[in-house]
Amino acid sequence: LQHFVTVKDLHDDQVMALIERAIYFKNGGSVPQFERPVYAVNMFFENSTRTHCSFEMAERKLGLQTIPFDPAASSVRKGETLYDTLLSLNAIGINLAIMRHQENEYYKELIELETTQKLDIGVVNAGDGSGQHPSQSLLDMMTIYEQFGKFKNLKVAIIGDLSNSRVARSNMQLLNKLGATVFFAGPSYWYSKEFEEYGEYLEIDELVSQVDVVMLLRVQHERHADESGFSAERYHRQYGLTVERYKQLKKNTIIMHPGPINRGVEIDSELVEAPKSRFVKQMQNGVYMRMAMLEAVIAGRHLGGL
Ligand code: CP
Repeated sequence: LQHFVTVKDLHDDQVMALIERAIYFKNGGSVPQFERPVYAVNMFFENSTRTHCSFEMAERKLGLQTIPFDPAASSVRKGETLYDTLLSLNAIGINLAIMRHQENEYYKELIELETTQKLDIGVVNAGDGSGQHPSQSLLDMMTIYEQFGKFKNLKVAIIGDLSNSRVARSNMQLLNKLGATVFFAGPSYWYSKEFEEYGEYLEIDELVSQVDVVMLLRVQHERHADESGFSAERYHRQYGLTVERYKQLKKNTIIMHPGPINRGVEIDSELVEAPKSRFVKQMQNGVYMRMAMLEAVIAGRHLGGL
């Protein structure tokens, strides 16, 4: 791969290869030895704990040289464009830009310009607006695969703030591709036409006793224009994973959440580390999946002698 910006164009065998590679790294498999250094920069224009630190950990484990970049202290604040910023970073020798940005598909123009201009830098999307979150989605697939060893015929409920969620978009695309059946729940006004081709909308109480995976989404308060009518207590009662609903889950059902969690909203606080919870495992798996993703781009661009 030249860039890793979306899961939409991945084939199912590519997804499986990434999962196998991430599991290999997780099991202590050796990392590639680069003949020449590979330089990466993490550019997070939106807040992040997991994705940012996890990419940095993945880079260190792979032996990449990570150059610090603070958007607030950068010349982007003086009006420099993303393209000119990447042109500058590339000119000083950076090979990979791992970027999170509030604008959907911010990467499109950069990739198009890369083919026609002097830029030579691989873009890895760490989340774009409400568009895509490829690394989260792939670590989620890895976590599901570790649990069930398959995707075909699994029933997965994606529940919550669908319209604002890049995690929902990436996951529904990959789950469909891999043969799982997707259902959606949560406030019906967050379920729009774009979701219909990927799965049916049902009430959470119709789903909890049926599905193999409950995938909760964070309520993205920062993306809501008007929160005046929002009640955390009401959301939790109507759409959240309460202790009562947890008790109705099947024996082998797992619960997932990309984080950060609004405790007491999407999920009862006491369930966060419950036996069916895979939240910690998702975060652990993220490091290994991001290693596999970075390696794929490094190989695709013939960096480091690979
Ligand atoms: N899941 C996720 O993207 O978390 P962060 O926003 O903390 O990176």
